[in-house]
Amino acid sequence: MTAEDPAVPVLTIDGPSGSGKGTVARAVATRMGWHFLDSGALYRAVGLAAGWADIDFSDADALARCARDTVVRFVSGDMTAEPRVLVNGTDVTDELRTETAGAAASAIAAVPSVREALFAKQRAFRRLPGLVADGRDMGTVIFPEAQYKVFLTASAEERAARRHKQLSEKGLAVKIDGLLREIRARDARDADRAIAPLRAAADAILLDSTGIPVDEVVERVVSLLPA
Ligand code: C5P
Repeated sequence: MTAEDPAVPVLTIDGPSGSGKGTVARAVATRMGWHFLDSGALYRAVGLAAGWADIDFSDADALARCARDTVVRFVSGDMTAEPRVLVNGTDVTDELRTETAGAAASAIAAVPSVREALFAKQRAFRRLPGLVADGRDMGTVIFPEAQYKVFLTASAEERAARRHKQLSEKGLAVKIDGLLREIRARDARDADRAIAPLRAAADAILLDSTGIPVDEVVERVVSLLPA
C-alpha cells in the first residue's frame, strides 16, 4: 500500500490556530483508529531546529536543508494521550507549544523551499487504515485528492478566550487582549502569504465551532466519515 493509494482514506482538517482543529482532529483519529498528522508540529520543529543551528531566517537554502534534515518523531504511550515530540532525538513537547515556537514556525512556513522539503514527509503519513491530517493546506496542497475535507473556524475572540483558559489552567497569567492581537496578527500573516495561504479548499465543508462544545464538533466530523 503506497502513500498514493486512493484506498487509504484521508480526512483533512484545516483552519486557523485556536479553532480547536488540533483537539478535534486528534479525537477523530482516535475514534476511527486512523493515523494522525500534526503538520503544524513539523513546522514548529523545523523552526526550533533552525534556531538551534543559528540559521539566518532570510537564508532560504539553509532553511530548506534544515527542513530536509530535521528528524521529527511522534512517540505515543497510548492512543488517548498527546504524543511526545522528539526533534533530532530531543524531547521538545512543551517547548513546541510556546508562542516563540509558533512565531518561528510561521516565519519559516512562508519559505517555498521549506514547504517543498516537507511535502513528501507529510504525504508519507498516509497509511492504512486511514489518516486525519491537521494543518493549513492539507486539503488544498498536500492532500488535494482527500475524500473528506473540513475547514474549521471560530471567531478570533473565542479563540483568544480558549487560549487564555488553557494558559490560566497552566498557571500563566496573560492578558486576553494581547492574545487577541497575536491571534489576529498570525491569521493575517498566514492568510496573506504568497505561498499556501490559509484558505478553505473549494470542496471543504465549513464548520464554525464558535459556541459549540468540542464533543459536538467531533460528532459532526465523525458523521461525515464511513461507519
Ligand atoms: O497549527 P500550528 O499553530 O501548530 O502551526 C504553527 C504555524 O505553522 C502556523 O501559524 C503556520 O504558519 C504554519 N503551518 C503551515 N502549514 C501547515 C501547518 C502549520 O504553514 N500545514
